[in-house]
Amino acid sequence: MTLLHIDSSADTADDSVSRRLTGLFARTWRAHNGTAAYRRRDLTADPVPPLGPAYAALGRRVEREGFVPPAKVPALIENAAEEREWELTRPLITELLAADTVLLGVPMYNFSVPASLKAWIDRVTFPGAYADPDTGERLLRDTRVVVVMARGGGYGPGTPREHHDFQTPYLKAYFGSQGVAPDNLHLIAAELTLVGLLPHLDGLEGPAADSLTRARAAVTALAVA
Ligand SMILES: Cc1cc2nc3c(=O)[nH]c(=O)nc-3n(C[C@H](O)[C@H](O)[C@H](O)COP(=O)(O)O)c2cc1C
Repeated sequence: MTLLHIDSSADTADDSVSRRLTGLFARTWRAHNGTAAYRRRDLTADPVPPLGPAYAALGRRVEREGFVPPAKVPALIENAAEEREWELTRPLITELLAADTVLLGVPMYNFSVPASLKAWIDRVTFPGAYADPDTGERLLRDTRVVVVMARGGGYGPGTPREHHDFQTPYLKAYFGSQGVAPDNLHLIAAELTLVGLLPHLDGLEGPAADSLTRARAAVTALAVA
């Protein structure tokens, strides 16, 4: 059982709610499964570079060929720039395919996901990488994805910002389109993390504490499942 733990908060572990929650998951998971199969990627400390033109050119060529597994991509590379893009991309694909569980810490930035995570998503989503070239079988079908989100405000039903949460629908659509089975996708949100800092959230200390308590319980339960 391999756990790939990815964080994308720009904040440090002390200040970041999503990092504290993914840390809780990782500690609990390691206590049950050991440390040998634990992998860690910090998209803030070690950012994934944005895509260059050579990535787009290589991706188009691969798509024209139909289903090309990652092992056969090098045969289609035409220049050093494409080689460089592939060197940046291939290890991320290998790491994702090797994971039984992917744990993602995702703060809400401007109603969506941080650019650091989007850069990883854009790069790792290389044509043909997640389908068996012979059978078309989706290779991430059995991968469990646990997304731990943190938001400064509240986005629950009936709240003024109910329709501003673009994180949840985006991540559901993305992992669904990559073949992750709906039952294997778990989204947990700690809300109102900026209570005490933003005056317009005054009075919401109770709901904020409840949200964090629920998120901690959900994270702990999933870590031992
Ligand atoms: C660049 C930036 C943009 C943010 N945008 C939003 C937002 O659109 N909605 C919201 O509720 N909170 C927003 N926040 C607050 C964060 O979602 C909140 O602080 C959350 O706890 C961040 O996750 P972290 O604690 O894991 O770093 C933003 C924070 C930053 C730094």
